[in-house]
Amino acid sequence: MAVSAFLWFLFFFFFFFFFFFFFFFFFFFFFFFFFVIFVDGQCLDDQKKLLLEFKSELVHNSSTSHSFVNWNETGDCCIWGGVGCDNSGRVTDLNLNDEGISGVIGESSSLFRLTYLSNLDLAFNDFTTSEIPNQFHRLPNLAYLGLSYSGFVGPFPSTLANLTALVRLHLSSNFLTGSIPSFHTCKNLKFIDLSHNKLVGSLCHLHFLSLTNLTRLDLSYNSLNGTIPRHLFALPSLDDLDLSNNRFSGKIEEFTITNNTNLRQLDLSSNRIGGHIPNFFFQNPNMYILRLSDNLFNGSFQLNKIRSLTSLSELALSNNNLSVETTNMSLSSGGYPYLSTLHLSSCNLYDFPNLENLSLLHTLDLSNNHLRGDIPGWIWETAKAYLNLSFNLLTGLQKPKYVAGIPNSGDFAIFLGNNRLTGAIPSFICDASPFGVLDLSFNNLSGSIPPCLINKSFVSEVLNLRGNKISGVIPDRFSIECGLQTFDVSNNSLVGKVPKSLENCKSLVVVNVGNNNLEGSFPCMLPLSLRILLLRSNRFHGGLGCRKSWPNLQILDISSNNFSGSVKLLKFERNDAMESYKWIEVKLVKIWPDFTAIDLSSNHFRGEIPDAIGNLTSLYLLNLSHNSLTDAIPRSFGALTELGSLDLSSNKLTGRIPDELAKLTFLSVLNLSYNHLTGMIPTGPQFQTFSADSFRRNTRLCGFPLDRSCNSPHVPVPTPSEPKDEEIEWGYVFAASGYVVGIGIVAWTLLCCRRWRERYFGKIEEVVDKIFYERGRRRRHERRVRRREERRNGLRRHHH
Ligand SMILES: *[C@@H]1O[C@H](CO)[C@@H](O)[C@H](O)[C@H]1NC(C)=O
Ligand SMILES: *[C@@H]1O[C@H](CO)[C@@H](O)[C@H](O)[C@H]1NC(C)=O
Ligand SMILES: *[C@@H]1O[C@H](CO)[C@@H](O)[C@H](O)[C@H]1NC(C)=O
Ligand SMILES: *[C@@H]1O[C@H](CO)[C@@H](O)[C@H](O)[C@H]1NC(C)=O
Ligand SMILES: *[C@@H]1O[C@H](CO)[C@@H](O)[C@H](O)[C@H]1NC(C)=O
Ligand SMILES: *[C@@H]1O[C@H](CO)[C@@H](O)[C@H](O)[C@H]1NC(C)=O
Ligand SMILES: *[C@@H]1O[C@H](CO)[C@@H](O)[C@H](O)[C@H]1NC(C)=O
Ligand SMILES: *[C@@H]1O[C@H](CO)[C@@H](O)[C@H](O)[C@H]1NC(C)=O
Ligand SMILES: *[C@@H]1O[C@H](CO)[C@@H](O)[C@H](O)[C@H]1NC(C)=O
Ligand SMILES: *[C@@H]1O[C@H](CO)[C@@H](O)[C@H](O)[C@H]1NC(C)=O
Ligand SMILES: *[C@@H]1O[C@H](CO)[C@@H](O)[C@H](O)[C@H]1NC(C)=O
Repeated sequence: MAVSAFLWFLFFFFFFFFFFFFFFFFFFFFFFFFFVIFVDGQCLDDQKKLLLEFKSELVHNSSTSHSFVNWNETGDCCIWGGVGCDNSGRVTDLNLNDEGISGVIGESSSLFRLTYLSNLDLAFNDFTTSEIPNQFHRLPNLAYLGLSYSGFVGPFPSTLANLTALVRLHLSSNFLTGSIPSFHTCKNLKFIDLSHNKLVGSLCHLHFLSLTNLTRLDLSYNSLNGTIPRHLFALPSLDDLDLSNNRFSGKIEEFTITNNTNLRQLDLSSNRIGGHIPNFFFQNPNMYILRLSDNLFNGSFQLNKIRSLTSLSELALSNNNLSVETTNMSLSSGGYPYLSTLHLSSCNLYDFPNLENLSLLHTLDLSNNHLRGDIPGWIWETAKAYLNLSFNLLTGLQKPKYVAGIPNSGDFAIFLGNNRLTGAIPSFICDASPFGVLDLSFNNLSGSIPPCLINKSFVSEVLNLRGNKISGVIPDRFSIECGLQTFDVSNNSLVGKVPKSLENCKSLVVVNVGNNNLEGSFPCMLPLSLRILLLRSNRFHGGLGCRKSWPNLQILDISSNNFSGSVKLLKFERNDAMESYKWIEVKLVKIWPDFTAIDLSSNHFRGEIPDAIGNLTSLYLLNLSHNSLTDAIPRSFGALTELGSLDLSSNKLTGRIPDELAKLTFLSVLNLSYNHLTGMIPTGPQFQTFSADSFRRNTRLCGFPLDRSCNSPHVPVPTPSEPKDEEIEWGYVFAASGYVVGIGIVAWTLLCCRRWRERYFGKIEEVVDKIFYERGRRRRHERRVRRREERRNGLRRHHH
C-alpha cells in the first residue's frame, strides 16, 4: 500500500512539475516577443544619428568592446547592444559598462542631446585625465548615472544636483576633487556612491537633507572634513551609511531619533571624531555593522549597551580613547547570536569580555589592552578565523574544553605576541592545527619547539617564535606538504643546524634564525622562493658557495658569523634542465633592479669588493664592515643612487675614495673609518654633512672634515696603532684559513617599497618587522574587504 501511494505521489509530483515548467516557459516567450516586437519602438533617425556621433567622438578598444564596437548605420538602433528605447523609439538606456571606451566626453557631446536618457552607465571605461562634463542638467530624465572606475579627474560636476529624477549615482573610484553639491532637491535618490575620490570640504545642514528614499550613502575614502550633520543619521530609509576614511571631526551630539531608524550599517572608522559615542547608535535593534574604530571617541563605554542590538554582526571600537567596561556583560543563552566580528584593540580592557558560546564569532581583536592571567580555554572554540591578543599582559594558556580537535578553518591567524607567556609551548596547541598564522613572538616561552608544531604542516603561512627563550634544536621534521611562507625563530637560544627538511617548504619567503647559537655552513637547501634571509649573530661558518641561487632574494643579513672567503657576487646561468646549474662568474647585470639590503659585516671575508655591486641600483643599505676586504672602493658605487647607508669600516681598503661616492645625494650614513684609504676626501654637498668620525683611522686621508690638510708637503706616516689593527684582524682570519675561496653566491632581488628605505637605514630587522606587519595588515584588510563584499551581496539579495 505504502509503496503504491508513494508511486502515485511521484506521478503527481512530476506531472505538476512539468506542467508548471511548460507553463512558465511559454509565458516567458510570449512576454519576450511582446516586449521586443510591440513595446520597443523603432529607433528614430535623429536618435541613431546622435548615437553614431557619440561613438565617433570617442575611441574604443575593439577587442574589449562587445556592444559599442558594433554600432553602425545598419539596423534599428533600439536593438543595438547596450541601447534601450521607449515605445516611441527614443533612446532611454545606454549601458556601456566595461566597453574599453576611452577619450574625452566634451561639453558639447551629442550625448547631451539624447534628452530622454534615463539610464546611463559608462563605468569601468578609461576616461583617464578627462573631466566629467558639466552638462548633465540637459538630461532631466536621468535616473541612473554610473561613472565609477573610469579615471575621471577634476571637480565634482555640480549640475548633477539639478537632476531631480536621479535615483542612483555611482561615481566611486575616480579622482574627483572639490566639494559635493547639496543633493537635497533630488528627492528620488536611493543610492549614492562617491567613495574613493579626492573630495574635500564639509557637509552642511542641506546636504542630503530629507532624502526620504535614500538607502545607501557611501562617501568613504575621501578627504571630507568638518562635523557630520546629525540629520544624516535620521534619514528614514537610510540603511547603509559609510563615511569612513575621511577627516570628519568634532562630536556627534546626542539626540533622539523620533521616527524609527533603518540604519543597519554604520561605518565612521578612520576619522577624527571625538566625544562620547552617542547612545542613539544603539537604538535600532536591527543594527548589523557598527564600525567606529580609529577615531578620537573618548570616555567610558559599557559594552553591554550593545545588548539591545540583537542582530549585531560586527562591532569595531578599536583605537579610540575609550575605556570599554565589560562588567555586567552577560551573554548567557545567546545574547548576540549573530556577532561574528569584534574589534576592541586599545580599549583599556582589563578583563576578557565573556564571549563564551558565541557560535558565529570568527574574528576577535583584543590586542593592546591590559588583559592579565591566562587566556581562557573557550577562546579556542570561539574566534575561529582571526584572534589577536598581542600586546597584553597574559601569562598562560588554558587548555581547551574539548581537547579532541579544535575545529578551525585552516586559515586561522592567531597573534599572541608581546605578552608574558611563560613555560613551554603547550603541545595542545597542536590540536588546533592547521593554522594560517601562529605568532608567539616576544614572550617568555622556554623549553624546546614541540615537534608537532612542525611535522604536521601545522602552520600554512607564518610561524613566528621570535624573542623568547626557546632552546634545543629546530626539529628536522618539515614535511613535504609544508606550505610555510615565513619562519622566524630569531632571538632565542637554539642550537644545532638549520634543518635540512626546510627545503620542503617550497613557498618560503622569509627565514629569520638570527641571534641564536646555530652552526653549520650556509643553508644552501633553502627553496628558490626565498626573499629575505637573516642569519645574523650565530656561529655559521664557511663560504657563500651553493649550487643554486635565489632569484627573488631581496634582503640578506649574514652579519656577525664566521663566514669567510670572497664576497664576489656570482650569478648562475640556468641550463635547459631546471635542476642543474652551471657555475659561471659573470658581472651582475641589472636583472635585480630592486635590491634593497646586504649586510655581510663582522665575518672573515677577504679579497676585493666586486665592481658588480654597482649594478644593484636600488640598494639602500650596504654593510661590509669588520671584514678583511682589500683593494680600492669600486667606482661603480657611484651608480648606487638610492644608497642611504654605507659602512665599509674596519677593513683593509686602500686607494682614494672615488669622487663618484660624493655624488650620492641620498647617502645619510657613511663609515669608512679603520681602513688604509689615502688622498683627499672628495667634496660634495652630501659629503659636507659627514663628520670626521666617518673617516677616522685612515692615516693617509686628508681634507675636510679631517683636521689634516692636503696641502701639507709631507705625506702623513701611519701611526703606530695601524699595524695593531691589522694583527687583530689577522687573528680573525685564522678561523677562515684553509677554506676554498672563490665560489660565492649571492643573487637576490628586492621588492621593498621606497617608503621603508627611508625609515630603516641600518635596521634590517625592522624592515622585516615592517614586512610582517604589512603582510598581516594586508591579509586582514583583504579579508575584511572580502567579507564586506559578501555581506553586501547578501544584503542586496535580501533586498530584492
Ligand atoms: C585592448 O584590450 C586588450 C585586452 O584588454 C589589450 O590587450 C590591448 O592592449 C588593448 N588595446 C589598446 C589599443 O588599448
Ligand atoms: C553592423 O552591425 C551589425 C550588428 O549590429 C554587424 O553584424 C555588422 O557586421 C556591422 N557592419 C559593419 C559594416 O560593421
Ligand atoms: C541648478 O540648480 C540651481 C539651484 O538649485 C540653479 O541655481 C542653477 O541655475 C541650476 N543650473 C542649471 C544649469 O540648471
Ligand atoms: C520613494 O519611493 C517610493 C517607492 O519606492 C515612491 O512611491 C515615492 O514617491 C518615493 N518618494 C520620493 C520622495 O521620491
Ligand atoms: C572627550 O573629548 C572632548 C572633545 O572631543 C573633550 O571636551 C572631553 O573633555 C573629553 N573627555 C574625556 C573624558 O577625555
Ligand atoms: C585620551 O584621554 C585621556 C584622558 O582620559 C587624555 O589624557 C589623553 O590626552 C587622550 N588622548 C587623546 C589622543 O586624545
Ligand atoms: C552592574 O549591574 C548592577 C546591578 O545590575 C549595578 O548596580 C551596577 O551599577 C552595574 N555596574 C556597571 C558598571 O554598570
Ligand atoms: C555556554 O554553554 C554551556 C552549555 O551550552 C553552558 O553550560 C554555559 O553555562 C554557557 N556559558 C555561558 C557563559 O553562557
Ligand atoms: C620568565 O620565565 C622564567 C622561568 O621560565 C621566570 O623565572 C621569569 O620570572 C619570567 N620572566 C618574566 C618577565 O615573566
Ligand atoms: C664607524 O665604524 C667604527 C668601527 O668600525 C666605529 O667605531 C665608529 O663608531 C663608526 N663611526 C660612525 C660615525 O658610525
Ligand atoms: C654595520 O655592522 C656593524 C657590525 O655588524 C655594526 O656595528 C654597524 O653599526 C653597522 N653599520 C651600520 C651603518 O648600520
